[in-house]
Amino acid sequence: MNPGSSVTPSSDSDTLELSGQVLHQRAWRMPDLVVYQHAPEEWWVAPLDEELPLIRLNRMGASLLGAMDGRATIQTLLAQFGKWVCGPDRKTGRWHLERWSLPRYSLCYFGTEAPSGHSVHAKWDLLLQRVRERWHENAPTDSETQLHEFHRQGIHGHQGHFELIETTVSHLFREPCDALQGSSYGRRLAQTLKQLGWWTPKPRRVVEVGAGLGYVSQEMARELASHERRGVEYLFLDLTRPFLTAQVQVAQQAGWSAQAIHADAERLPFADGSVDLIIDNENLADMTPLHLTPQELDTGQGTTSQHQAALELLRRLRLSLDRPYPNDAIVNYGAIMFLMETWRVLKPGGHALLIEFGIDQGWPNPVRLPGHTEYEVQFSHLRHVARWLGFREQYCPLPQLLSIRPETHVLCTGAAYAIRRFCEAEGRPFAIRAYTHPELEKALGDMLPRLTGLHYHQVLDPAWFGLWDFKALLLEKPGGFHRPAYHESKGFRWYSQR
Ligand SMILES: C[S@@+](CC[C@H](N)C(=O)[O-])C[C@H]1O[C@@H](n2cnc3c(N)ncnc32)[C@H](O)[C@@H]1O
Repeated sequence: MNPGSSVTPSSDSDTLELSGQVLHQRAWRMPDLVVYQHAPEEWWVAPLDEELPLIRLNRMGASLLGAMDGRATIQTLLAQFGKWVCGPDRKTGRWHLERWSLPRYSLCYFGTEAPSGHSVHAKWDLLLQRVRERWHENAPTDSETQLHEFHRQGIHGHQGHFELIETTVSHLFREPCDALQGSSYGRRLAQTLKQLGWWTPKPRRVVEVGAGLGYVSQEMARELASHERRGVEYLFLDLTRPFLTAQVQVAQQAGWSAQAIHADAERLPFADGSVDLIIDNENLADMTPLHLTPQELDTGQGTTSQHQAALELLRRLRLSLDRPYPNDAIVNYGAIMFLMETWRVLKPGGHALLIEFGIDQGWPNPVRLPGHTEYEVQFSHLRHVARWLGFREQYCPLPQLLSIRPETHVLCTGAAYAIRRFCEAEGRPFAIRAYTHPELEKALGDMLPRLTGLHYHQVLDPAWFGLWDFKALLLEKPGGFHRPAYHESKGFRWYSQR
């Protein structure tokens, strides 16, 4: 299958017809393919689509995989392996050749040239990205309301959601790990809040918006002493009901006085000036996008009442929008509404920490994930709105906020997903995390030597998780008390006027 060719399977039964030009193409195994030797004569590989069963191969099947090195044509492979049984399920080489290059399998690439140029890896990465995006095509769901529908109705349980559907940075670093020098994501956030003086005095009412499974609250509780948590009301606000149950349970076990509110962050159910601290982690890209046309932007006339309201708001905010306008101009309308709500509900002197992936220039792009589409956050727009509202703002890349050790090497996330599937089939637990090699050794024990194709990235390498694309926006609503700040050293208190 060529990335530009017309093969776009839509159902399980789709296969690539092995005829015509295809026969003259050559086959390359995907470079990040992980192979697991389950038994002396049985090897497993995992198709990209979790819905498809693992591919189980015998020695003939493993040889077929080995032969996909860019030298043999499909015709040759078909002649050599086509009629032979390639695995314990009795599927033939032809059956495998008809499927492995399809996006849902993504085990190999068929083409006339290797997907390599100046940098082999860069080209492969692009190819994989295109293949994966095509597989995730959510065309019918790329609407302005799909995200609310997905969070209100599309998530039925929390088990596995962040392992399969949307793995977040905070999920990868949810527990103490090498990449954070033995710390965890939530602990680092708590340390940062304390360093910023946001816990002096401690907030009385904290709202965590879109907290997923609640790990950030758990780890924050571990970082803060019990007297620092005493008297703090920790509220979870989420659109997904099943997550709220998990959040409250985790937070209460960790020592918070916690409660859940089922609501939409774009319309916060709090009185004006009633919240001290808002934490919103990897959720802005889930908020309502508006798809505006160049004509709507040029004329200021919206085609729906929501578009009209948005256009009036953009004009009021004096947001400068890049020209020429694209045909599908995406505005992070929900995130802007949330920011305005944040201003309204925060007390004078209150704070907000917003973290998400995004861009600083141009127009947001859709990011297709299984079952839903998210949108890059245009941070220069959000920062402009924050200043327009009156916030004092600070902004930095997330790795800087977390002080991530750049030299750490972590397991490719694609490999982690494949290992998870192998472990599941073996009846062994395995959680998706940012594993260094020693951490993986500890997690897998005797299984590790039977895995080949594992590779590690520098944690800040864009090819790993694109951590530099994640940004932190730190906001303060002016008007709080100006308390003398002090630090203690050798029994003395050193005061400074803030
Ligand atoms: C990508 S997850 C991030 C979860 C968690 N903070 C993390 O970093 O792993 C997005 C979270 O925001 C919630 N969410 C999405 N849209 C929301 C909205 N409009 N209002 C409130 N919560 C929302 C989802 O249910 C989910 O808990």
